[in-house]
Amino acid sequence: MISLDSGSCLFPYHRIYDSSVNQYFLQLSYYRQINLYILLMSGFTQVHKGNSSAEFNLRAEEYQTVLQEFRQKLAGVSAHGSVAAVEKHRSRGKLLARERINLLVDAQTPFLELSTFAAYNQYDNAFPSAGIITGIGVVNGRECLIIANDATVKGGTYIRETIKKHVRAQEIARQNKLICIYLVDSGGIYLPEQANVFPDRFDFGRVFYNQARMSAEGIPQLSVVMGSCTAGGAYVPAMSDETIIVRNQGTIFIGGPPLVLAATGEEVTSEELGGAEMHTAISGVADHMAEDDVHALKLCRDIVAGLPIPEKQRLDIQPVREPLFPMEELAGLLPTDLKKPINAHAIIERLVDGSEFQEFKANYGKTLVTGFARIWGFPVGIIANNSFLTSESSLKGTHFIQLCVQRKVPLIFLQNITGFIVGKKYEHQGIVRDGAKLINAVANASVPKFTIVMGGSFGAGNYAMAGRAFDPHFLFMWPHARISVMGGEQAAGVLRSIGSNGSTGSLLDEFEEQSSAYYSSSRLWDDGIIEPADTRKVLAMAISVSLNRPFGEASYGVFRM
Ligand code: COA
Repeated sequence: MISLDSGSCLFPYHRIYDSSVNQYFLQLSYYRQINLYILLMSGFTQVHKGNSSAEFNLRAEEYQTVLQEFRQKLAGVSAHGSVAAVEKHRSRGKLLARERINLLVDAQTPFLELSTFAAYNQYDNAFPSAGIITGIGVVNGRECLIIANDATVKGGTYIRETIKKHVRAQEIARQNKLICIYLVDSGGIYLPEQANVFPDRFDFGRVFYNQARMSAEGIPQLSVVMGSCTAGGAYVPAMSDETIIVRNQGTIFIGGPPLVLAATGEEVTSEELGGAEMHTAISGVADHMAEDDVHALKLCRDIVAGLPIPEKQRLDIQPVREPLFPMEELAGLLPTDLKKPINAHAIIERLVDGSEFQEFKANYGKTLVTGFARIWGFPVGIIANNSFLTSESSLKGTHFIQLCVQRKVPLIFLQNITGFIVGKKYEHQGIVRDGAKLINAVANASVPKFTIVMGGSFGAGNYAMAGRAFDPHFLFMWPHARISVMGGEQAAGVLRSIGSNGSTGSLLDEFEEQSSAYYSSSRLWDDGIIEPADTRKVLAMAISVSLNRPFGEASYGVFRM
C-alpha cells in the first residue's frame, strides 16, 4: 500500500498554505545557495483588520457565495473520471494522475496546477480538466513543468482543449526554461474529434515540434510511460531526451495489436509489440525499466537531480513580509456588479509585502495606478486599473513600463478595465495614438509579465493591460471576473444602432455566459481561476518560475508621437 500522506500539498491552489509556499522556496537549490531561507523565516508583521464598513461587510458576504460556487465546481473538475474508470485504473495497480504528481514533487511543496477548468461545461462534461493535468512543481530542488495524462478520462485521449492545455504548458516551459516531465498514459487522439485536433498549426503535431525545439534549446524533456502510448502519442517518449517505462504496464506503439492484426494478419500481444522489456532491450525506444509507478517516479526524480542548473536571472530579493491587511479582506473590496469601481490602492495594499507601495506619478493620469512594491520578497512593478484608460494614464503606463524594463523589475498587471475613454474631445487629443504607445510598450516589455483579471476585461483595454495575446508569462482570473469585447448591454446598444434585429434578450444571455471566468478557463484563454486570497502566493511562485530564464534587453518598436 502506498502512503501519499507524506507527499506534497497536491491539491488545487485554493488549498495552498503559506507554510507550503515557504517550503517551495526552501526546496529550490537556487534559494538555498543565497541562504534565503533565513530571510524567508523572518519579518512577519502583525496583521490588522483594515475595514469593517457596512458596504465592505455586504460585499464580503456576497463574495462568499461566489467562492463557494467556485470551490464546488473546482472539486468537481478535480475528481478524475467516473467511479468505474477510477476503479478499473486502480485494479491495474496504477496510481491516479494527481497521485503520481504528488509522489514526483518534493514533500510538502505545493503544485501550481494550471487550467483545471479546461473543457468545463463542454462535451457534456465528459472531460474533467480536459483529461490532462498540467502545472509546476519542485522536483529535487528544481522547478519543473509536469504534464500528466488522466487515463480515467476517456482513456487519456486528446480533444481540442487537451491539446491546447498540453501545448500551453510546453509554451510556459519554453518561456521559463523549465524541465518538462511527461507522465504518459493516453490512447492518443479522441477519434470522434479528429477533425478538430489533428492537422492545424497548434494541433497535436505541435506537441512533438515543441519537444524537438525545446530539446535543441537544452531544455530537458523526460517521459515516464505509465500506460498506453499509441500512434502519434508514441512520439512523446520517443522525442524525449530520456524515457522510463513501467514493466507490464507501459506500452509504446504506432498501431496496437488489433490494428496490426487487421493490417498485416500478424497476431501479437501488447507486451511483445511495445512493452517495457521489448523497448528497453530490443528497440531502444525507452531507456529505463521501472517495476511500478512508484519506482518509475523515483527514477525520474533521480534523473532530474543530475541535470545541470541553468543560469538564473538575479534579482534583489528581500525578506518576506506579510501585508499589513489580511488578504481575506480582498473579498470585501470586490463588487459582484462589475459596473461598480474597485479601489486599486486597497487591492494592492493586500497583495504586497508590508503593504508598502512606492507609487509613481500618483497625481497624474489617476485612472491607472503604477508603482513599485515587493511580493514575497521579489521586486515588482504594478500597473492597476482604477477606471478607463485616458491619454494621460496611457502615457504614464508607457513611462512606467520603460522604468521596469530598464531596471529589470517584473511587471504585474491588475486588470479591471472597461476600455479606453471615448468621445470627440479624446479622439481629437489622440487617445488612439497614446493607447498605441502603451500597447507597444506592453508587447515589447522584455521583463516577465503577470496578469490578474480582478474585475472586467473589456475591449482594447484587455490588450493594453497584457491580455492573453500579449504573452504574459501567466494570466489568472478571479472567479467573478469577466472578459469580452464589451459588456452585453453595450453590445446590444451597438447592434440596435446599426439596425440589427436580433433579440436583445438572447444576446444579453449569450454575453453573460460567454464572458464568465469559467467560459474563459474552459477554452484556455487564461491559465486558471484563482481565489483572490491566493493571488500573492500564486504570483510569488510564478515570479520565481520566471527567473529560470534571464530577462532580455529593452527593445521597442516605433512609438507614435
Ligand atoms: N478515441 C475515442 N475514444 C477512445 C479512444 C480513442 N482513441 N481510446 C479510448 N477511448 C474511450 C473508450 O471508448 C472508453 O469510452 P467510455 O468510457 O465512454 O466507455 C474510454 O475511452 C476508456 O477506454 P477503454 O478501452 O474502456 O479503457 P482501457 O483503459 O481499457 O484502454 C486504451 C484505454 C487507450 C488503451 C484503449 O481504449 C485503446 O487502445 N484505445 C485506442 C487507442 C488508439 O488506437 N488510438 C489511436 C488514435 S491516435
